[in-house]
Amino acid sequence: MENPTILVTGGAGYIGSHAVLALRDAGYEVVILDNLVYGHRDLVETALKVEIIQGDIGDRALLDQLFKTREFAAVMHFAAYAYVGESVSHPAKYYRNNVVGTLTLLEAMCEAGIKNFVFSSTCATYGVPQQIPISENQPQQPINPYGMSKLMVEQILSDFDHAYGLRSVRFRYFNAAGADPQGRLGEDHEPETHLIPLVLLTAMGKRESISVFGTDYDTPDGTCIRDYIHVTDLAQAHILGLEHLLKGGSTEVFNLGNGKGFSIQQVIEAARVVTGRPIPVTLADRRPGDPPSLVGSGEKAQRILGWQPQYADLETILKHAWQWHQKRHGGI
Ligand SMILES: NC(=O)c1ccc[n+]([C@@H]2O[C@H](COP(=O)([O-])OP(=O)(O)OC[C@H]3O[C@@H](n4cnc5c(N)ncnc54)[C@H](O)[C@@H]3O)[C@@H](O)[C@H]2O)c1
Repeated sequence: MENPTILVTGGAGYIGSHAVLALRDAGYEVVILDNLVYGHRDLVETALKVEIIQGDIGDRALLDQLFKTREFAAVMHFAAYAYVGESVSHPAKYYRNNVVGTLTLLEAMCEAGIKNFVFSSTCATYGVPQQIPISENQPQQPINPYGMSKLMVEQILSDFDHAYGLRSVRFRYFNAAGADPQGRLGEDHEPETHLIPLVLLTAMGKRESISVFGTDYDTPDGTCIRDYIHVTDLAQAHILGLEHLLKGGSTEVFNLGNGKGFSIQQVIEAARVVTGRPIPVTLADRRPGDPPSLVGSGEKAQRILGWQPQYADLETILKHAWQWHQKRHGGI
């Protein structure tokens, strides 16, 4: 029997490309659908070597044609906009791409009889958490349109399962970080807003300093605490989630977090050690809507999917990211 083919939307982006690598290593055939608004064709061609269709998840005619001519066992859906600040100033853009685009994709899947869906949700659906570490059954009260757009899709997925039998695994990621341990892929967002790449770009001299927003939080060193989860561990969870669905498993939701939090200050200090370079800091005021601490429990994914994060320590995450950044962006 031929290996199942998986459609990966957003497979030219950061997390999607690492999932494609993991799918390929696990023996799946992969087709990427990405409009390349943020993705990188060069990485698909050099590191992934899989078919890429440049197109939009909201293009129903393209989807119908694709599903008519190819057989897909499942769709892994990474394509979305993910800039929290922009979602506040341009909510329409976020609801259109993340919600309407996804709805178009789901409708086309249902019509084509594709019933397995792996979805990138986010810890931003929890808003300000009531308890740390955050478990899946905590209330979801997003505080920005980005988080709300993902929560809306989660609701759509519950309803589609009930009405149309479309089963899904929804992963609520905490902060994806790190890079392929072999250095083939890594993070390259433009604009970049994530802490670890910004810290490393500062270490490389590509940025003057790293801004730390708020030093008076109720945390041990006063800076915010976040949960950093290695992108290769995230990718591995997607294989397990996919296999859960392909074996006929029910719709499930899982947090993908480290269970350990690191403060902004700890990340910067660890990056100074890993890179051996100075990393100047600019202290700034708190940003509205930044919870003091966001740490997720990955216990359910470990228990039900057998997920075992391999690269949970901060130093390894930083080492892999540093190796990638030097390769991608060159030295000083
Ligand atoms: N990076 C994180 O820490 C994080 C945390 C939680 C959730 N997520 C979610 O994970 C997913 C992937 O995030 P990422 O960091 O890899 O982002 P990314 O921007 O690197 O990747 C997203 C990809 O989707 C593509 N895309 C966007 N809209 C599209 C559309 N309409 N049609 C086709 N392609 C489209 C982009 O070109 C890009 O290649 C997103 O859904 C994001 O919301 C990310």
